[in-house]
Amino acid sequence: MPINAYMRDKALQCRMYPEAPSASQFSEKTKSSRMLYHEALRYTPYGVHSNWRIFDPYPLFMRRGRGSRIWDADGNEYIDFNMAFGALGVGHAHPRLVEELRNVIEEGTIYGFETERSVLLAKLITSRYGYDMVRFSTTGLEGTLLAVRLARAFTGRPKILKFEGCFHGSHEMVMVSVKPDIYRAGHQSSPLPVPASWGYPESLKEYTLVASYNDLDGVEKLMREYGNEVGGIILEPVAMNMGVVVPDIEFIKGLRELADEYNSLLIFDEVKTGGKMFRGVQDWCGVRADIIVVAKAIAGGYPLSAVLAGREIMETIGPKKTAHGGTFNSNILSVSAAYITLREILTEEALRRCQDLSDKLASGYSDILSDAGIKFNIATFANSGTVYFTDKRVRNWRDFVRLNDFGRWYSWVVAMVNHGVIPQALGYDEQWTISTQHSEQDIEDALEAMKKAVPEIRRGTPKISVEEVL
Ligand SMILES: Cc1ncc(COP(=O)(O)O)c(C=O)c1O
Repeated sequence: MPINAYMRDKALQCRMYPEAPSASQFSEKTKSSRMLYHEALRYTPYGVHSNWRIFDPYPLFMRRGRGSRIWDADGNEYIDFNMAFGALGVGHAHPRLVEELRNVIEEGTIYGFETERSVLLAKLITSRYGYDMVRFSTTGLEGTLLAVRLARAFTGRPKILKFEGCFHGSHEMVMVSVKPDIYRAGHQSSPLPVPASWGYPESLKEYTLVASYNDLDGVEKLMREYGNEVGGIILEPVAMNMGVVVPDIEFIKGLRELADEYNSLLIFDEVKTGGKMFRGVQDWCGVRADIIVVAKAIAGGYPLSAVLAGREIMETIGPKKTAHGGTFNSNILSVSAAYITLREILTEEALRRCQDLSDKLASGYSDILSDAGIKFNIATFANSGTVYFTDKRVRNWRDFVRLNDFGRWYSWVVAMVNHGVIPQALGYDEQWTISTQHSEQDIEDALEAMKKAVPEIRRGTPKISVEEVL
């Protein structure tokens, strides 16, 4: 079957999961969300403005958030461990940001000019992450788009190497093998590039090479064959779009060496991780990339991304050189939010405390699941973690798809929501985020909810196949 017809076929199976034991309780308690969803379906595909928000039987619609809590359209209160897919490392409506941004709004929200604040933020962020220069955009997508373009511009080479299961935003150069159907992706040691969207021109495929995450040999093989055409190697240095997958440090070090050997640029997509550790993943592995992209949590819930690199690379940006522009880039709201967030809220000490709470949550979950005799494995990094329902370590996309029991995962998530906890971003490939506003009590309460969820996790749902989760 042609690829587009095949993908169309799959997309029609929007209702991914069969009814879980706790689904009726979910429907009972979230009637307003269901009504809003049906209304939304009239105007918006799948009723959501980002495909990642699709949830079965329907997504929750929210009304407000404060601190570690969020309230849905029915007025149900939840402890929120989604935290806007990690964008809220500061928690909801952080009082310091509310105070500051109220003042900013009074003076206008966007000027179409640079400001003193954009200079101060550039100085702060380059010093924090240790790079010479920075350019601000609005979303993570725009950040990785610029990073890839920079790598090509700087090296004059057209190809990019990415990894199966890594997501870098919805733009063509990286919309390949994001969540590939493994039956279309060939052998794990030499994965075929699988487009991640309809409308992807086949001719673009030749520009994106794909390797398996954590497989240095596979990368080496590709570089031996195509290295002289590869402008950049892009990856999530700790993957957070197939759950949390912490790679072997040797893998990251090996990529650094290969990039150096072939004079390709190493790009760390730290859209998620950059706001989770003080200086991002370099604090954990000691490896420095040539270009990093940070976004999400760095601006305290306001839209801002930053591409950072050495002067030589960044100075390829400019008129008639490397294109970069955007109306909302460095708007005063986002820049002010990021300045306060990085200077006063996401401090090294605060992030360490978030990590401690995250570790406490992981170890509590671990005790409860062990006592219940349920197979599981928890992967953590900084203030985030993922519960996999397998007792084996997940090292790459193939493991993620093959090992995880998605039926149990779904039962767990729905049961937790019923017990007043959004345990993570509500996608099967996501993780929890502990914000600076979460408390010890929130962790205790989440563990109580986990205890109550055990019977439902045990019952699980009927086996969910690989095709159904893609
Ligand atoms: C690692 C990574 N890179 C890039 C992006 C894209 O960011 P945005 O949704 O802000 O465009 C995401 C979004 O989740 C991400 O997880």
